[in-house]
Amino acid sequence: MTDAVSLIQAKRDGKQLTDDDIRWLFDAYAKNEVADEQMSALLMAIYFQGLSQDELRTWTAAMIDSGDRLDLGQLTRPTVDKHSTGGVGDKVSLILAPLVAACGAAVPQLSGRGLGHTGGTLDKLEAIPGFTASLTPRQTIDVLNATGCVIAAAGAGLAPADRRLYALRDVTGTVESIPLIASSIMSKKIAEGTSALVLDVKVGTGAFMKSLDKARALAQTMVALGEEHDVRTAALLTSMDTPLGRAVGNAVEVEESVQALQGNGPEDLMRVTYALAREMLALVGIDTDPEDAIASGRAYETYKKMIRAQGGDPDAPLPRAEHVKPALLAPREGWLTRLDALAVGVAAWRLGAGRARKEDPVSAAAGVICLAKPGDHISEGQPLLELRADDESRFDQAIQALDGAMTIIDHEPPPEQDPIIERIIGSC
Ligand code: URA
Repeated sequence: MTDAVSLIQAKRDGKQLTDDDIRWLFDAYAKNEVADEQMSALLMAIYFQGLSQDELRTWTAAMIDSGDRLDLGQLTRPTVDKHSTGGVGDKVSLILAPLVAACGAAVPQLSGRGLGHTGGTLDKLEAIPGFTASLTPRQTIDVLNATGCVIAAAGAGLAPADRRLYALRDVTGTVESIPLIASSIMSKKIAEGTSALVLDVKVGTGAFMKSLDKARALAQTMVALGEEHDVRTAALLTSMDTPLGRAVGNAVEVEESVQALQGNGPEDLMRVTYALAREMLALVGIDTDPEDAIASGRAYETYKKMIRAQGGDPDAPLPRAEHVKPALLAPREGWLTRLDALAVGVAAWRLGAGRARKEDPVSAAAGVICLAKPGDHISEGQPLLELRADDESRFDQAIQALDGAMTIIDHEPPPEQDPIIERIIGSC
């Protein structure tokens, strides 16, 4: 007979938990026989001591088994999803899901909302008049069948243990733990029922993982977990030192995504999108060039179909901010070599595009437009950003976040860096 205190002490002292210990823990926690404060203490012990591969496998399996699994077995197309660890201006899902669907796969994207400086895919899509992200499992499958893709909120029944654990981690300083992040992300993706998964693990100032080593370790851990659960999984490490594309916010990112689907996307955004699309298609054995699906208009048509199937009007005007302010004036002429992703993300968040607590509303129209990106030549006094808000009083705090956010040099900057840093694949 085990008990919570013994498990906390064992992990605190660097011992391994057995499969039975972990199964008992999740069962007792679901029945409220383990208290939140005990689970929090255990999470802190894991933060310091980590989880072995065996522990992590059982921990993730217990999170999956805490709820339902979506059964996608009835779909005729192969299923493949993408997960991003979160970044600034990361609107890739809005383009990628219809793009990969237009190439012949089924993309079941069950996403979360944004918290802190990184935006959430659902918040962006909800800027579209009428769009709903709350679908039942039946509706999710119907939209997938009809359009080839769906982007919806993960229902309460999917890995509910993660929901409770994440809420505890958020308030106990235990989010930044590789095994806890890996099990949290992968339990939801495995429960979603996809047969293949590509992970976009962001590295840089605007990402969860600031160092390449940590991002690589997280990616390797998640790829191994996917494979153990028979989900073909690959990961790309991609750069998040500067915002992806030019728009950061909700409606503004939808606008930029539509431009991208129409063939006018910014280069960095399209490089990441195409690289992820190629990985996804390769995992499910579809030999098609995703660039053709954009050029032919098929990806954009699929996007409009998906938006309509989820109640939205893809042709309706998007909300526009009442107040617009140029910001971050270049102190001198030169080449912009750095526009910090975290600073721009925090500015957009303070303008109202993001939320501080799960239950806060977000502004559809607020955000930041990058008028210049690293590599651009700029003149003295030129604004590098445009800030947008519903409420003028938000500008001052946003501008404070931008202090020190840029570097300008006199000489021509070094050649552009590829945003794709590294590819991580499984052993089979
Ligand atoms: N995203 C998740 O879903 N879980 C984490 O732990 C971190 C990011």
